[in-house]
Amino acid sequence: MPKRSMSLELHAPQMIPDAPIGAPDTLLYDRLAEDIARQGYSVQPNALPDELSHALLMHCHQLQSTQFEEAGTGRGQAYLRNEFVRKDEICWIHGDSDAGRQWLQWCEQLRQALNQALFLGLFSFESHFAHYRPGDFYKRHVDAFKGQANRMLSVVVYLNPGWTQNCGGELVVYQNEQDQTGLKVTPLMGTIVAFLSEDFPHEVLPAARDRYSIAGWYRVNGSSMDRADPPR
Ligand code: OGA
Ligand code: MN
Repeated sequence: MPKRSMSLELHAPQMIPDAPIGAPDTLLYDRLAEDIARQGYSVQPNALPDELSHALLMHCHQLQSTQFEEAGTGRGQAYLRNEFVRKDEICWIHGDSDAGRQWLQWCEQLRQALNQALFLGLFSFESHFAHYRPGDFYKRHVDAFKGQANRMLSVVVYLNPGWTQNCGGELVVYQNEQDQTGLKVTPLMGTIVAFLSEDFPHEVLPAARDRYSIAGWYRVNGSSMDRADPPR
């Protein structure tokens, strides 16, 4: 993937409001699209541009703890807090910070590339920061239920520099409902995981360190003549 040269980095692009996020990383989009077409998921280390991951992590640290909320499951009226299922805290990204806006722009470029390559009809995007304190977890779950035609593709990116195996906190992605082994992903800075939301149960194992990630979902347009379906 293209990396900025040192001399450009000295100019700290994240300090400029609405700084452009750089040329689309077509090689990365191709790899993601190819994996998703072949196997329904993709794991890409070093995928998010360094400046963007660092700006997002810095923003996460700056968010007051009051801006994070205890996570729950379900949407709208069906939203439930259940500390036996998940213990993390989350903060939705609405694009009211430079880092948040650049993240949303980056995800919009990815949305367009995946739609061109895969004809998925991805329509909108929603995402939140997640903070897992030491010991926090998110038990095995799926992000969308079949037939509800809402969340189509899940994307998770990690914001943890220097994460090693003894830090724990892996994402475990299971191939199907029967799979009990799964594929373990280390939540290291810049890694992106994408998977079809209905098809891959997954879980977050407890970590020994504070663990930061962004989880996002591309949705298809569920609107019909009598039911508007705006993103959250
Ligand atoms: C989620 C999720 C995984 C992670 O928020 O739905 O599965 O690694 N997150 O943070
Ligand atoms: Mn999930």
